[in-house]
Amino acid sequence: MKLTNFVNGGFQEGQNADFVPVTNPATGEELAEVQRSTAADVEEAVKAAKAAQKKWALVPAPKRADYLYEIGRLMKERKEQLATVLTKEMGKVIEEGRGEVQEGIDMAFYMAGEGRRLFGETTPSELADKFAMSVRAPIGVVGLITPWNFPVAIATWKSFPAIVAGNTFIWKPATETPMMAYEMAKIFKEAGLPDGVANIVFGSGSEVGTAMIEHRDIRVISFTGSTDTGRKVAELGGRYLKKVSLEMGGKNAVIVMDDADLDLAVDGILWSAFGTAGQRCTACSRVIVHKDAKEQLQERLLDKMDKLTIGDGMDETVKIGPVINKKALEKIHSYIEIGKQEGAELVRGGEILTGGHYDKGNYYAPTLFAGVTPDMRIAQEEIFGPVISLIEVASFEEAIEVNNGVIYGLSSSIFTADVNRAFKAQRDLDTGIVYINAGTTGAEIHLPFGGTKGTGNGHRDSGVAALDVFTEWKSIYVDFSGKLQRAQIDNEA
Ligand code: UN1
Repeated sequence: MKLTNFVNGGFQEGQNADFVPVTNPATGEELAEVQRSTAADVEEAVKAAKAAQKKWALVPAPKRADYLYEIGRLMKERKEQLATVLTKEMGKVIEEGRGEVQEGIDMAFYMAGEGRRLFGETTPSELADKFAMSVRAPIGVVGLITPWNFPVAIATWKSFPAIVAGNTFIWKPATETPMMAYEMAKIFKEAGLPDGVANIVFGSGSEVGTAMIEHRDIRVISFTGSTDTGRKVAELGGRYLKKVSLEMGGKNAVIVMDDADLDLAVDGILWSAFGTAGQRCTACSRVIVHKDAKEQLQERLLDKMDKLTIGDGMDETVKIGPVINKKALEKIHSYIEIGKQEGAELVRGGEILTGGHYDKGNYYAPTLFAGVTPDMRIAQEEIFGPVISLIEVASFEEAIEVNNGVIYGLSSSIFTADVNRAFKAQRDLDTGIVYINAGTTGAEIHLPFGGTKGTGNGHRDSGVAALDVFTEWKSIYVDFSGKLQRAQIDNEA
């Protein structure tokens, strides 16, 4: 199967006849070939998006929302098929594949509801016989750059608010996971979305991403990916005075206090550290444990880690799938040496799995380091794989300090039975998302998603907050006094 771009309501080959393979990370099987587009293809897509946007902005928002209801309905109808495509191209286990598609369905219906809200403000004027209000106005053509770890959910967090607010978009999916984007293009078409509202251009960040950022008619870039790439996106976007929304790395921690329900904590850690093979921005990669709970926690954690099944995510009994590619496998593995050299104790895992079906895919053993100190690289840098570092602390205050002592600030969690501590923690944890008595993953779509410090640049995906990225505020004053009234001057009368 050849995956071509989706431009102006049709699938079409790019100007360059270059295609690259899409591989199943669980089996090494080639699933499809995807277009490697050029700046000229971006140009064509932007032309279509720009032409469509003028009309789209004039469609009443509740009518724009009707398309989202239909998109959501089609996604729901095809949930199983979409989840299967997702698991095959990305590797996450099928249960998580279904969960991710559900996240997209939820986003469709939630954002469709915004079609009848898109609330602005009405306020009194300082002058008599004058009316004042603010409305959300669409920005125009927006650019969406999405990662491979959530091939559909993250795209829905960005594209659905963009279109309900009256924008049209160019979406560049990750090269590793274009099949979900292709499926979404079919859904956009079947839902009857007008031509040019949704456009998908496949290709590399350096070619297609750069062309999008540099294009003067793309006014917003919403990016999710690594902090290194995000910084480049912001630098380049800054030159063009672009609104750039960034969602980047994490080094998320679960804090386990001495009064925690340890079995619950273990389940929370396992799910958020090893789910999606640790390849979530929200994944737990540090466990900050009170010294009095450390021994028990480690023992119970290892016991359950040893029972995890690793393999092809299409097998319903498998709990952990492969990592995305060989490069990721090597990056993860390189941290084992780093950790050992720093003096951490490798207690479990630390190896690329080989033999039998493992040889065909990219499998990494669930890994646990103990004796980790907060300044070690394995406790500071995003590894993006199934690796956790156990850090011992002596108090609640120290736990908070260690949690906050990294450059990232996406998600954090604390397990404790003490309600006062829980409330102090939600106040003091310097992350965009905080969990009490749950792991670090599982954000719901109707709340803002994003992080502090090196994780973001102040914007948020999903929730109503996403509308802030894709709209301009317009303040409107209506003077019905029939005479000249000067603000700040005539208001004394
Ligand atoms: C991501 O890892 O980039 O909160 C997104 C979660 C999911 C989304 C993760 N709902 O873990």
